[in-house]
Amino acid sequence: MSSLRIDEVVFAGAIGRPGGPRPGTLPQVAFSGRSNVGKSSLINRLLGRTRSHVARVSATPGKTREINFFHVRATGEAGAVEFYLVDLPGYGYARVSKELRDSWRPLIEGYLRDNPELLGVVQLIDARHGPTKDDLQMVAFLEAAAIPTLFALTKIDKLGNSERRRQIAEIVGRLEVDPEQVIPFSSKTGEGREELLGALESLLVATH
Ligand code: GTP
Ligand code: MG
Repeated sequence: MSSLRIDEVVFAGAIGRPGGPRPGTLPQVAFSGRSNVGKSSLINRLLGRTRSHVARVSATPGKTREINFFHVRATGEAGAVEFYLVDLPGYGYARVSKELRDSWRPLIEGYLRDNPELLGVVQLIDARHGPTKDDLQMVAFLEAAAIPTLFALTKIDKLGNSERRRQIAEIVGRLEVDPEQVIPFSSKTGEGREELLGALESLLVATH
């Protein structure tokens, strides 16, 4: 399916406050989702970093408050590609103060807004629970900003076959998106990895 091979991943820097500078000028693909949705696990699985992790799988959720940039070198059908994989802070963690809970918005939205090097966003949604209020707000923001968006339905391994079909159909309906934009994903089994890499490759190649 996908021929994109990840050759190298290096941490490139972080943005810790709204309006903070990006570490460089490569094209970017950002990963967004609520806290505990499985974002670090997905990034590690996607990049093939199962032994030495790139993104930290946290024991204490809601801790990452920075936007982290990883410089990725990969080889696709059309040759070498280079980009920043951008790990956005998880939002919507309930067990922190309201102030802290709402602090993600200016940081994340400031980064996403007016960023000509941003090729697209992979928005993670928990396959079992569907989109939360915060997820729907984020999706509305992405749509209004006309940012190309793919959806990864995480933890799909936790659903049985009939439940899985029902949840996917329901989530596609609630997000009002093309089913083609929606990729069921499991960091446990690796399901969806090839499909997501293929989608990333198309995004990278289309704009090179
Ligand atoms: P924060 O950074 O804390 O906001 O969370 P996160 O979105 O990065 O989630 P993380 O990858 O840390 O995973 C949260 C929990 O879900 C961990 O206990 C993971 O082991 C579990 N998990 C993540 N992805 C999967 C998956 O695909 N399948 C299953 N069964 N569990 C998963
Ligand atoms: Mg994380």
